[in-house]
Amino acid sequence: MKVVVDTNANINGTLVLPVWQDSKGMVSGTEAGVHRSLKNQIEVVLGDGDFKAKSGTAMTLAGTEGGKALLIGLGKEDDATLQSMREAGAKVTASLSKIHGKTVTVKFCGVDVDRMGAFVEGMILRDYSYDKYKSKDDDDDSDDSEITAHVTCEDEKTAALGKSAEISSAVASGVYLARDLGNAPPNDLYPMAFAEQAIAFGEKHDNVSVKIINYDEARSMGMGGLVGVGMGSYRKPCMVIFEINGDQPGPSPCIVGKGITFDTGGISLKPPPSMDEMKYDMHGSATTFGLMQALVASGHKDRVIGVTCMAENMPSSNAQRPGDVITTYSGKTVEVLNTDAEGRLVLSDGLWYTGTQLNPSYIIDLATLTGACVVALGHEASGLWSNNDELLNNIKEAGEHCGEIAWPMPLFKAFEKEMTDSKIADVRNLGAGRWGGSNTAAAFLKQFIPNADGTDEQIPWAHLDIAGTAWGAKTNKLVKNGATGIHVRTLHHLITGQ
Ligand code: BES
Ligand code: ZN
Ligand code: ZN
Repeated sequence: MKVVVDTNANINGTLVLPVWQDSKGMVSGTEAGVHRSLKNQIEVVLGDGDFKAKSGTAMTLAGTEGGKALLIGLGKEDDATLQSMREAGAKVTASLSKIHGKTVTVKFCGVDVDRMGAFVEGMILRDYSYDKYKSKDDDDDSDDSEITAHVTCEDEKTAALGKSAEISSAVASGVYLARDLGNAPPNDLYPMAFAEQAIAFGEKHDNVSVKIINYDEARSMGMGGLVGVGMGSYRKPCMVIFEINGDQPGPSPCIVGKGITFDTGGISLKPPPSMDEMKYDMHGSATTFGLMQALVASGHKDRVIGVTCMAENMPSSNAQRPGDVITTYSGKTVEVLNTDAEGRLVLSDGLWYTGTQLNPSYIIDLATLTGACVVALGHEASGLWSNNDELLNNIKEAGEHCGEIAWPMPLFKAFEKEMTDSKIADVRNLGAGRWGGSNTAAAFLKQFIPNADGTDEQIPWAHLDIAGTAWGAKTNKLVKNGATGIHVRTLHHLITGQ
């Protein structure tokens, strides 16, 4: 979607009119340029209460000589939030059909820049579909050209709104990339295919470097977690390290993603229903890569690191078994009691590598880690665990700001004890019982956060379990279906303040 912000009274294409609930007429200042007959039609519809403008509603007006209009309900003005504005903007994109054409003009007057910016952001974020594998019929005359949205408001607000739309477009390019990666079928997106895409990204941008730790290197480095999970597949595992603005000194934010390109469960095979959804089990890595794209597109100047732990979890004669004991990159041994608890194994190496080799100011990992997190929070929030209250609060606030909720969960000592009482190894990859499964998983990860240099305190670290938010939330109005690109925006906001 191309967004053009101006004060031009001309209307290009379909008029889009955002309306507060129970408005009885057009807001003064929005009538300029609207043809009299269209204006009359709008005034009648609003005056008679035929369109009440409740949030989530839309009405198309057509058939007058004055052009077409799309009325969008914003809900009550007093109740409006950034997220309700984003959702109203998304409703515009979702409502556009052939009759509206590919050019629209959104008219605002009397709305503050933050709210208008959120509306525009919602329009942009909803303008995504994954059509790569769909053939086009010969008789398909649908127009898949880009939408152009002119957005008009008062003179004094256009500069700020223009800047906001520019940032939204830049960040959305990262959200789209994360969705593309998440939606990609697992036969085409396997660990080294992800790595190759990362290398191409690095070659395209001067301030990005990408390093791959391939299977053989991972083996010789002693990355037993990554190797153990990935060795059962013909498509071998790897770790991808992105570095943005590597010439900037100092400790930097490091983001670590779980990247299981397909999770069959391995020898602890999953049941068939919905197993296809396990192609999304690399969404932590998709978000990490998407964030790198967002940061580059928005012109971020400081150093940021992304680490993605890529593997395909398959059963085979070469796969790891329940009962195996592996030695991870940290030197700690892990008793593998269930091969379906594989995300924590690849992350154990990614986290330790990040903590010891990459000079982090803090580490945040993202993982579609546990079904238990979906049981706890549904599709409404990601679970958030941290060893550092300040980091936890910053992530929570960034999530709230972006409408991507991250909900605090506990790291009780009892969970750590449960995961470290293996009879034969340092750590076990399965809790003693089924209760609190997302908490025991987080407690496992915590064992692989090194202490900050020269201290006996761990590096600040947070874990986001995105099992419920990476796909499948019917309530997520900003995406039609499939991968959501969750937390690209949260992390971009956390890191840049934008
Ligand atoms: N990728 C799954 C978690 C998952 C399940 C994400 C459903 C989204 C939807 C993960 O690797 C897994 O299988 N976890 C197990 C852990 C268990 C064996 C301790 C789970 O959640 O059942
Ligand atoms: Zn699994
Ligand atoms: Zn998994």
